[in-house]
Order: sequence, then structure tokens, then C-alpha cells
Amino acid sequence: VEEKFIDSVLATMSIDDKIGQTNLRGTSSRAKTLSDDLKEDVRQGKVGALLNVMKVEFVDELQKIAIEESPNKIPLIFGRDVVHGFKTIFPIPIGLASSWDTEVAKSSSRIAAIEASSVGIRWTFAPMLDIARDSRWGRIAESPGEDPYLASVLGKAYVEGFQGDSLNNPTSIAACAKHYIGYGAVMGGRDYNTTIIPEPLLRNVYLPPFQSALDAGVATVMTSFNEINGVPATGNEFLLKHVLRGELKFDGFVVSDWDSVIEMIAHGYAKDEKHAGELAAIAGIDMEMTSRAYEHYLKDLIEEGTVTESQLDAFVKNILRIKLRLGLFETPYRDKNNEANFYKKEHLAEAKEAAIKSSVLLKNKNVLPLLANTKVALIGPLADAPLDQMGTWTFDGEREHTITPLKAFKEANVNFKYVPALTHSRDTSKSQFKKAVNDVKDSDVIVFVAGEEAILSGEAHSRAVIDLPGVQEDLIKELSKTGKPIVLVIMAGRPITITNIIDNVDAVLMSWHSGTMGGVALQEIIYGFREPEGRLPLSWPKAAGQLPYFYNHKSTGRPANEKDYVSMYEIPVGAWQSSLGNDSHYLDIGYKPHFPFGFGFGYTDFRYDKLKISKDTIGFNDALHVKVSVTNTGERPGKEIVQLYTQDVVGSITRPVRELKGFQHVSLNVGETKEVTFSISVKQLEFTNHKKIHAAEEGDFNLWVGPNAASGLKDTFYLKK
Ligand code: IFM
Repeated sequence: VEEKFIDSVLATMSIDDKIGQTNLRGTSSRAKTLSDDLKEDVRQGKVGALLNVMKVEFVDELQKIAIEESPNKIPLIFGRDVVHGFKTIFPIPIGLASSWDTEVAKSSSRIAAIEASSVGIRWTFAPMLDIARDSRWGRIAESPGEDPYLASVLGKAYVEGFQGDSLNNPTSIAACAKHYIGYGAVMGGRDYNTTIIPEPLLRNVYLPPFQSALDAGVATVMTSFNEINGVPATGNEFLLKHVLRGELKFDGFVVSDWDSVIEMIAHGYAKDEKHAGELAAIAGIDMEMTSRAYEHYLKDLIEEGTVTESQLDAFVKNILRIKLRLGLFETPYRDKNNEANFYKKEHLAEAKEAAIKSSVLLKNKNVLPLLANTKVALIGPLADAPLDQMGTWTFDGEREHTITPLKAFKEANVNFKYVPALTHSRDTSKSQFKKAVNDVKDSDVIVFVAGEEAILSGEAHSRAVIDLPGVQEDLIKELSKTGKPIVLVIMAGRPITITNIIDNVDAVLMSWHSGTMGGVALQEIIYGFREPEGRLPLSWPKAAGQLPYFYNHKSTGRPANEKDYVSMYEIPVGAWQSSLGNDSHYLDIGYKPHFPFGFGFGYTDFRYDKLKISKDTIGFNDALHVKVSVTNTGERPGKEIVQLYTQDVVGSITRPVRELKGFQHVSLNVGETKEVTFSISVKQLEFTNHKKIHAAEEGDFNLWVGPNAASGLKDTFYLKK
């Protein structure tokens, strides 16, 4: 039925009408009026979709023109980067990933869809599924972190949330799995940089989250800005035609990223705009974002026979299919029952919950949670920075709705004093230091909300040094001289290297850019009404020079180990050609991250014991069942994320030292023990090797169950043919 309808629409279209559908027109997000040129282009059928139409009246007017006056009366799709909330802002995606919670991913994107669709947006450019292993890269803020398994389960949940039970529900918005592919592998963590990704790495690490989003029915896919092994992703026939369409059977539409079609000229891959259009068309880009190579040249290319009309037909069909699935042919206008559904009580409650679940406690020397009557000095450039707290990609969130820590502390009426000292994270003035040190003297504890402004992460906002910017470290060191315990709260879009100050503070809590309700979440965590529930979705570096770093790296021929590691500060002065520790480490910082992937704790302790696997040897049709007992040995009820890792010891290509294969959330009362069970299928042990064979291989496996990627109880099993 679907295809028949699409064919019937296609049959009425001229080549120009068809090219019009492939045009995703950008508008200025600051435009106060609708331009007559844009209206005329819509009227003539030259536009298939629009991005960043910020006023709801404009959305309605343009849709009316398309439906009533354009040649084929085909509805427009209105798209926007609704990335971590629309009006109600949730923690940035790397924060949401720290929840390791598919319900959080799903409910945050569902709420974003409900709010965004109420102003006519039916397409979001999210979720971003780029595996990110370099914290210098600004877009790590938008990523699901470094692990393909975690990114895959979250990716599926985001798609389910945005798209709802059915795409044609008026509160559903089409999701967009981006950026296809390898964008997170940009060299040196510098945005838009080139990438080199051998095919096994592509298939074992970068592709699984996209596969998962496709399995969940994602409607659209966006190509990435980067080139891969010499071919820009936007002109990559192999990746788009062979892998995405051929192998993964994607039947939605592929959109290029902003101008990425014509950027193939700067890449040195296309000669000019026409050639760029040709390369994009041959690779299989259905819709072109903002640049207009198709509009300018696709007709000529078809007339010359370089591109066939049936190729163009395929693009249009893919686009119409999604418009049809969105119900736009029947209900092109927004749902009047879903008017301005913003900041509803339940949306705010979910945003607070998400912020609590995203917060990761990295250090706690008996300081948190604070007792109710503790006298707190609240200080730091992010303690009252509503815009920065919302983080990157927040077009629509509003400062007046954002509850900062300062506001939350006031509203909760806690015993605190606000000590302003630095006006923003990059402030280099020390003029307020003396006063600040004096002002904290009558408090019991200092809560220092440090971090980065939102503008320091996100697209095109990479950093080479990822310490706290400005003079934040200096102020922390000054404050620590008072002897008062310091709770360091970090609000940032990336892990921040804190090696220089870790010993000056008593607790470290990573809040990320935590969104509308971030301050409330923080206040509740600090005073122990809730515990921080997040775990790191990436390895936290000691120094930027260690990057890229990821837990699931290969072993090398000379793996570093604790026993042999000698720091450069321990090598005797005058020692010449020391042969100590000839293995893979840095002389100054060793070989470990500051905090491992999966790390984080709450306010209680857990013991793992009685690890049991169902069999020592499993066949290719078996599953391995794993059991472990987890006990709350602390003094408060608490939640733990129990993580299961495996290692394929010997492979036809070398295999990672550990790979996450499953995780489970458990809640335990004081003294309570629960048995946690996992089941691993042989499918989960498969990988692609250098000969492009995708299979699990016979041999020994190690297995760990524990609280993070650097610890756990260990067992082994054998996979036998
Ligand atoms: O969705 C984004 C993409 O992630 C980066 N370039 C611009 C697009 C549209 O805003």
C-alpha cells in the first residue's frame, strides 16, 4: 500500500518537482519574518524540508503553501536539532549515557518529541551515535561515549523515544542516526578532521550503534563531515549503497550534513559544485542539507546521463516514504491537542531524574552526603550559569526556566552562603580570590561548582588542553589552604583533567551540563536525599596527551603492568638507558586512565561474590549463563550497575582486552544480597576480521563481572565448534 501510494505521487512529478523534494533548506534561526523568496520556492515545489524554522506561525504558513499551492501538494518536513530536550532540557547526551539507563534515554527523547512536535517539528537530527574516544573533541558532549555496546542499547532507546509507538502519531518525530560514520574518530580530537578507520574497526566499533538504531526503525540517517580512508562520508558509495542500503537494508532517507556535499570540494574530492552533486548522487544521498548542488546541477547531470532519473526517483521515494509514515499526507499540520506542551510537571520530574541518574561520583573522602545543618559556601563559575548548565545544542531551552545550584539551594532553604568569585569558566582575574578565601572561612564545607561554559564543547569546539579553564584551579588551591573540605562539582561537556587538583579536594562529582533541573538534582544529591547514580560511559583521562584512550583497546606485544611500571620521577638521576619497564606506558602518567570506563559510586558499598558460569565449554548454538551475588555492605540503601565484560583471548585478528557485553541495574537495601544473572549468546562474541569474515571463533575467553572495566570477579570459558 505504502509503495503504491508513493509510486502514484511520483508519477505526477516532473524532474524539477523531484529535485525539489531532495532540498533541505536551512533558514536563519534569528529570522524575524518569513522571506518572500522562501515562500515562493515552497510554492514552486523547490523545497522538500526545512530546518530551523523557529516560529510556529512560520511553520504553519509554509506548510499551508506546500499543501495548497505547490505543484504536487506534498507536505514539508520541519527539522531541528532537538538533541537533549526541546524546552525542558535534559543532561547533554554524554550525561544521559552516564545513566546507562535505556528508560532515561527513552523518556527524555519522548518528552523532547512531545514538546517539539507541538510547534510543528516532526524531524530531529538526533541521536548522535558516534563512538567518541577522545575528550578533546567538542562533540564528545553529544556522544554516547566510547563503547559500542552501551551506545547501541542507548541508540535504540533514543529512537524508540523520539519516534514513539508509531511514526504517524502526531507527537512522534522522525529520528536521525548521525553521523554516518566515523566522525568521532577525527584525528587529534579536532572537529571535522580526517579519519582512518580500517574495515574491521569500522564494523566492530563504529557501525553497531547504527545497526541498532536501524533495527529500532530509525527513519533517517545523516552522513558525517569527515572523510574515511580518503573518501568523504557524504560521497561514500561503499558505505551508503553497499553497507547501509545493501547490508543493513535501510529504507528511510539519507541526508547530508550541513553543506557536506559541497565541502567535498575543500576535501579535494570534488572538482566543483557540479562534481560534488554527482558524487553525492552516485553515493546515494537522498536529501541535501543547505548546500544546493542538486538544485543547481542534478537536472543537467540526468540529462547528460551521469546520474539516472531512476536514481533520483529512488531518492524521492525514500523521502516520500518517511513523509507518509509520519502521517504528513493526512495530517500535515501540528496537533491542536498538543499545543505548547512545555515544562509540564512530569517533564520536569523526568529531567530531574535524568540529572540524578547522570551524575557520577568520582571521589568521596567521607564528605558527601552533607548533614542537613552543614554550613556550606557555594562558589564557582557554574554555580549560577543557567545557559551554560543547559549545554550544547539548546536552541529552545530558556534561562528563566533553568534551576541552577544557587537557585536550588535558595529554594530548598539550606544553610548556605553564596560566594561569587569567577564570573565565567574562562575568567582569568584573581581579583576576588582574597575576598572569597575570607568569605568561606565561617563555613563547614565548600561546594565549588567548576567546569566549562557550554560554548567550550559541542560542534567546532574542540580543546587541546582539557583542564579546568581560566584560573579555577588556582582558586581551588587557594581555598584548600583554609583546610575546609571541598566538594568539587564539575559541569562540563567533556571529562576534565583534574590531576593537578585532585588532592586539593575531598569529593568530585561530575554533573555534566545537566539541563533545566540540574541544580535541583545537585542539591538533592549533595544533601543525600538521593545518591549519584551514574557511571562513566568513557575512560576519564589523566592528561590530554593520553588521548585517544579507551578501555577496550588492544593488548600490544608489550602490555604495561603495575609491577614493571617505573615513573620518570623514580628513575635515578643520571641513569642511562634504563631498561626498566620496556612496555607500553607513558613515563610521566603511566598507562591507566584517571577513572576507568564504568566507574562511579553512590553512597554505599557493594561486595561481589559467588561468580558462577553455566558451563566451562559452550557450543556455537549455546548461550552462557552467568550468575553473581551482589551485597550492599554499606549503611544506606543503594543502586549499582553490574557490568559484564569478556575477552576473546586469541583471534584471527587481535582482540580488545575487554568488551562490555551486558549490564544490569540493581537496588539493594542495607545488608541485602541479590543474585544477578546474565546470558551471553555466541552472536555477542562475533566480530569482523581482516578477511571480512564476521563470526565468533573457537577458543578461550575471559569473563569478568564487576563495577567497572578495571576490576571484577573473573572466570574463563571455552567456545567449541
Ligand atoms: O544536525 C546538525 C549536525 O549534527 C551538524 N551540522 C548541522 C546539522 C543541522 O543543524
